[in-house]
Amino acid sequence: MDFPRHLLEIEALTRAQIELLLSLAGRFKRERTAARAAVTSGSEPAVDRRGLLRGRTVVTLFFEPSTRTRASFEVAARALGADVLSFQKDASSVIKGESLEDTVRNLDAIGADVLVLRHPAAGAHRLVARAVKASVINGGDGAHEHPTQALLDALSLRESLGTLEGKVVSIVGDIAHSRVARSNIHCLSKLGARVRVGGPSTVIPLGIEKLGCTVVRSLKEALEGADAVMALRIQSERISDARLPSARDYARTWGLNSRTLSLLPKEAVILHPGPVNRGVEMSNDVLESPRSLVMDQVGSGVAVRMAALALCLRAEVAP
Ligand code: CP
Repeated sequence: MDFPRHLLEIEALTRAQIELLLSLAGRFKRERTAARAAVTSGSEPAVDRRGLLRGRTVVTLFFEPSTRTRASFEVAARALGADVLSFQKDASSVIKGESLEDTVRNLDAIGADVLVLRHPAAGAHRLVARAVKASVINGGDGAHEHPTQALLDALSLRESLGTLEGKVVSIVGDIAHSRVARSNIHCLSKLGARVRVGGPSTVIPLGIEKLGCTVVRSLKEALEGADAVMALRIQSERISDARLPSARDYARTWGLNSRTLSLLPKEAVILHPGPVNRGVEMSNDVLESPRSLVMDQVGSGVAVRMAALALCLRAEVAP
């Protein structure tokens, strides 16, 4: 089975490639759960994957802030035995004016095998992939794509719902500024789900339906009959954008709370990519409820990133 050397966009992956990555990530997640239980009970973990990327170097190169993506890529790389270099933009020669292209060429020459890049410019990962010999993994580019986020969402959803075939997943929030929404629309629809998107009309891009989703005009329409609802972060750094309502107005019309959740079928699950603005996209009780997959998503993130690193670097994973 072919898997690309770079993981740049979900749009470019086939369903078979997504299935391959999710299957490997599911194995890694189960192994990690068993290994953590073994550590707690004082016994030896049954499987040790630290041989898979021994001698390889993974560089995390984040030009925007991150907690989950950067930390989980670094934990994933170490779990596979790789050396990790956490590039710090503000302590680097970027501050002296070195370009992105020159920066990555130098990291390539230093011996990077993988560059995990987060950058505010949509398409930055393509420029980097053309400039280096290393594999490139997109950790989020502008408002374009965040492929590993969509893959970890799919893993948590499939473990919870059994399959995504025919399931209804509603994505609500600031769709216009969201790379998570774009990657999820591509990923979920390739896996057979029916995707709805909704939010304040000023942040629903014209023509978004062409990506393979339907647009809903109210939270009620988003929640009724859904198998899952994914709330997106209201990007407070962009709240001065006149297209976004205030946090208070947003919470009243699109926020998930115990009142609005009565519209969602009882078995349906709730996701959020994080960080959560508590009381805006969702209330504390919704976030902490048994239906919330938010912390499970974070755990899936390590496993998905292990699988992405292993596949891009052609590691031979024993059955
Ligand atoms: N979901 C996500 O990308 O979180 P971080 O910005 O913390 O990496």
